[in-house]
Formats: sequence, C-alpha cells, structure tokens
Amino acid sequence: MSIQFSDDNPKAPITAPISLPEDDVEVGLRPKNLSEYIGQEKAKQNLAIFIEGAKRRNEPLDHVLLHGPPGLGKTTLAAIIASEMGVNLRKTSGPAIEKPKDLAALLTNLDENDILFIDEIHRMNRSIEEILYPAMEDRQIDIIIGQGPSAASICLELKSFTLVGATTRAGQLSSPLRDRFGIDLKLELYTPDELLQIVERSAKILGIPTEPEGAREIASRARGTPRVANRLLRRVRDFAEVTGTGVITKSAADDALTRLDIDRDGLDAIDRRLLAGIIRNYGGGPVGLETIAATINEEAITIEDVYEPYLMRQGYLTRTPRGRCATRLAYEHLGLAFTGNEQLSI
Ligand code: ADE
Repeated sequence: MSIQFSDDNPKAPITAPISLPEDDVEVGLRPKNLSEYIGQEKAKQNLAIFIEGAKRRNEPLDHVLLHGPPGLGKTTLAAIIASEMGVNLRKTSGPAIEKPKDLAALLTNLDENDILFIDEIHRMNRSIEEILYPAMEDRQIDIIIGQGPSAASICLELKSFTLVGATTRAGQLSSPLRDRFGIDLKLELYTPDELLQIVERSAKILGIPTEPEGAREIASRARGTPRVANRLLRRVRDFAEVTGTGVITKSAADDALTRLDIDRDGLDAIDRRLLAGIIRNYGGGPVGLETIAATINEEAITIEDVYEPYLMRQGYLTRTPRGRCATRLAYEHLGLAFTGNEQLSI
C-alpha cells in the first residue's frame, strides 16, 4: 500500500490536518465572521451570546479555551472573536514562548481588550504558565529585575485582555490554568453536510467549477476536517484540470481521491495500516497505544490526536482501559474475516 505524501512536507500524508506551507491559500478561505462560519453550531451559538454580552457591557470577553482535533478551525475562531469584538489579534504558540520575558513582552504590548491567541497552549513551559495566572485573573504580572542580591520583583499592571488558548489535548492542561478560562468550547469533527457547504464555499472563492456530487464526494472523504477538505479540493482540481475537463464531477473526484489512496470512507494508508496492524498483530486488540505506534512506525501522539478521532467517529476503533480495539466494521472495511476480539466479544 503506498502512502501519498505532500511535496511540501514529506512526513505529512495528504489527509493529515497539520499545516503545510501551501495552506497559506487556506488563510484566504477562512470565514471572517461568525455568520460565515459553517458548523460547530453549539460552540458558535454560545460564543455569539458571550460576545454580545461582553460588547453590551463594554467589557473584554472572558478568557476562551478552544479544544479539539487539529484542522477544525481553532485559529479561525480566534480571528473571528477578535473581529466580532472589534479588537486586535496577537498570535503566538506555547512552544514559541521560551522565556518569561517573552510572555511579559507580549502581555505588556497589548492594547485595551485585545485578544492574545496562544496555540498549542498545552506545550507551554510550567514556569511561564505561572506568569499567566495573575495576568488572567488580576491583570498583573510579577517580573524580576536584575540578578543576585540586587534582584527585585516588580508588579506591572496590564490592560484588560482576552486570552484565547487552543489545544488538541485539553487533558494535558494543568487545573490552575484550565480553571482560569471562563469559556470552554469543544470543537467536534464536522458532518459530511457541513463539509459539503465548506467545499462549495471554497470552490466558489477559488473559482473551481464543481458539480454538487463532486463536492459531496470530497466532503465525505475529508475525515470530518475542513483543512483536509480544502486541501483535497485543491488536489482534485489538479487532477481534473490536467487529466479531465477541469470540472469536478463525482467521477473526477472519485478518480482523483482513489489515486491519492483515500478510500470511500476517507481513510488513508496510515488509517488502514493502523487498523490492519491491530487486527493482524494483536487479534483485533486490545493493544496499548505505544505498542501499536511502534508496530506501524508512527508517533503515538499523531495516532491519538489525528487518526483516532476519525476512526472512532466512523466506528472502526474503540478505546478501552486495556487498549485499542478494532471493531467488526474495521474487519469488514479491510475485507478481513471477523474473528472477534477479546474486548468486544464480552
Ligand atoms: N473554511 C474552513 N473552515 C470553515 C468553516 N468552519 N466555515 C466556513 N469556511 C471554512
């Protein structure tokens, strides 16, 4: 089974929702306000109320934690929050903040009610995280000036601001940090109907001729993720332009996606290797995450954050306290005889 990798990032299969350099195109596709934003209805409706409430009281929005699998629109939502609130957005990420003074500089340079967006906030160093606590709660930071016996701690007042933190792993946040977010929004994988609307919207913006059934084919094979849907749209366009009529019909999309090794249900080669590995090497499971990761030579974190959410939603995989199990559906999908596994036959 061959794996289709992106030219830009040899480690990234075309369906991995991590960012690639060509995703700059994606920036132009991002909705600019809540009314343009498709899907995440629950999060969107609640957010609209909180934004309206804060605006009416002329206050900053409470701190927001966005969590969910990669590629679902956390950065987009942060930008929308800033635009709906009419304030600036300052972006950084947990690993980029190396020293306490980096965070102090970011915080002290914010204007009144600005949004500070910290992506991958779970990867922030604990000693830096501690500076955030008084900043989030009392709009203050304590910084140490000088070194040795002459060092002095001074307290700086900050302007009001909103911290928007994004993470794929909310469980890894410390309780003191998590407790300081007044708004907690969980983003879910998108339904095929929502992705269809996103593909049609993107095709319109990019001027790609698309038949409804062609767009639906891309949507239903985009593993619940807008970033993947938009990337597949661009790849299918390449095939349609070079080898077809240029119009994305159902058969043009099917042909292109099959060539990209993305099957009828959107599984790519790594998804299939993961399921086949559990079935062939561990009798369908249960098998521990680290064990199966080593078996198929992928990182455990990537399996957990990127592959498992979609496989679980589609009913191919279950997580149990004793490990991962492939379901009957997984056997059927791979054309293998279901022998039953320990966990599922109970
Ligand atoms: N492009 C990427 N994500 C989107 C979304 N949720 N709504 C509209 N367009 C998008």
